[in-house]
Amino acid sequence: MRKIRKYGENILRKRAEEVKNIDDKIRKLIKSMKETLVSVKGIGLAANQVGVLKRIFIAYDKERENLITVINPEIVDKKEIEMDLEGCLSFPEIYFSISRNKIVTVKGINEDGKEIIIDGKDLLARCFQHEIDHLNGILIIDYATEEEKKYYKEKLRKLTTNS
Ligand code: CO
Repeated sequence: MRKIRKYGENILRKRAEEVKNIDDKIRKLIKSMKETLVSVKGIGLAANQVGVLKRIFIAYDKERENLITVINPEIVDKKEIEMDLEGCLSFPEIYFSISRNKIVTVKGINEDGKEIIIDGKDLLARCFQHEIDHLNGILIIDYATEEEKKYYKEKLRKLTTNS
């Protein structure tokens, strides 16, 4: 179980580095990220959020009830656009309306070092796009309107003053 970094912490704004080889350190990191995501009942977690600048995310696939680990992820195909409310473990109790692709194909490597190609739709597709944003230092607030930011002003202020 690792501490989840909240909005206001600098590491969330940094670009994560590509993983060159999957060693014990990376395997341990993945294991702890999975434990953290399960314990908070989250849908997705990027390595930046646990304080590590490596291009890794974990996604929970609700339909198949399993955890997906993607290392060095890349979106290779995307279709359709859908607007929906989106949250983030780094922004507790805050939801912004964000337009995302409804269907995406992600390419990357799994924890065994094998190349994987995964199709995601709806929530899973949204999660893939959200987590890849994290690895590039992009956060949900970057998509928010001034009205939304105003609405959550107090919660956002508390987050940034606590960190
Ligand atoms: Co997030």
